[in-house]
Amino acid sequence: LSSIQVGVLAEKLSKSSSEVIKKLMLLGIMATINQEIDFDTASMVAEEFGYAVVEAKEESIEEKLNIDEKDEPKDLVKRPPVITVMGHVDHGKTSLLDAIRKTKVTEREAGGITQHIGAYTVKVDGETITFLDTPGHEAFTAMRSRGASITDIAILVVAADDGVMPQTIEAINHAKAANVPIIVAINKIDKPAANPDRVKQELTEHGLLVEEWGGDIISVAVSAHTGEGLDQLLEMILLVAEMQELKANPNRRAKGSIVEAQLDKGRGTVATLLIETGTIHVGDSVVAGVSHGKVRAMVDDKGKRVKEAGPSMPVEIIGLSEVPSAGDTFYVVEDDKISRQIAETKKEEIREQHIHQTQRLSLEDLFNQI
Ligand code: GTP
Ligand code: MG
Repeated sequence: LSSIQVGVLAEKLSKSSSEVIKKLMLLGIMATINQEIDFDTASMVAEEFGYAVVEAKEESIEEKLNIDEKDEPKDLVKRPPVITVMGHVDHGKTSLLDAIRKTKVTEREAGGITQHIGAYTVKVDGETITFLDTPGHEAFTAMRSRGASITDIAILVVAADDGVMPQTIEAINHAKAANVPIIVAINKIDKPAANPDRVKQELTEHGLLVEEWGGDIISVAVSAHTGEGLDQLLEMILLVAEMQELKANPNRRAKGSIVEAQLDKGRGTVATLLIETGTIHVGDSVVAGVSHGKVRAMVDDKGKRVKEAGPSMPVEIIGLSEVPSAGDTFYVVEDDKISRQIAETKKEEIREQHIHQTQRLSLEDLFNQI
């Protein structure tokens, strides 16, 4: 709270409103009983009456939940790497993932353009890898940056016949901003017009120097169509992941990110979560932004019903009260009462922010008119 009504302040100080108004006048402030005064002014008045004033520190949700406490090193176990596939539109991100999963996701997409982040896991040499597919279309900038922030490694897909394009550069910047290592997949090398060297040359112009040219960026030439280079790409992913020593504590309440969410006619809110740490179970109480609820059912990325899911796993859950925003952090909390309370606090915060913003906006408008 950064302001208080004069009348309310008087009550708190066990003084009459006129006494407070008098003190304010002595401080050079003309105020009425219903007027809001700011924290500094209120504390001056309180001090005049002999009170000491301390500003109450807003406890963050994490503190309230005590959920972000550090894990003991002994509780940490290896977790799968989370890989985000990024790159310019139509450079073959979804096809590459398809080829890796040997399924056919591209055919199901509207117009072959990815409109959301798909999340999948694959097993390679007994190791699990979690992949996030992101859209390359320029309208989806926000989604891409979200993808970069929840990822351990970024695969930058560049079509060998097209080269570095605007969304390639954007993806590079997101990965750099998130401090995520980049592996370059030079795709479509089966095409006659493919020119991997030109791609490498263009990448140097954006600060990425490939290993064979003396830099530290791993690049792999691949074809989603023929399958060439895919094994090598997976090998590189596991190698880089190995160096990161990725760990999490599966034995705690789950925390992670909302990857995507929408309203389904029959099932209500359907949300895809990526678990960062802990284990989520059917029946858990969850809060994500302004949304809360109990996990009624959960399916994995293969569409199979599961009862629980651990670190780095993507799952789809139903049971949330409303659609959370992609990128929201979700927390499993002790019970429904707490999740509802947090969601409502969040809503209130957003409402207040909104009021402040509109107020500021009208002030600026005023300025513009002068
Ligand atoms: P967005 O999700 O819209 O950004 O596109 P994307 O990067 O996921 O590309 P997508 O996988 O949808 O592929 C785009 C087109 O390129 C499709 O027609 C694919 O068949 C084609 N394509 C993808 N990979 C290859 C490849 O290795 N070789 C050839 N010849 N064509 C490819
Ligand atoms: Mg795609």
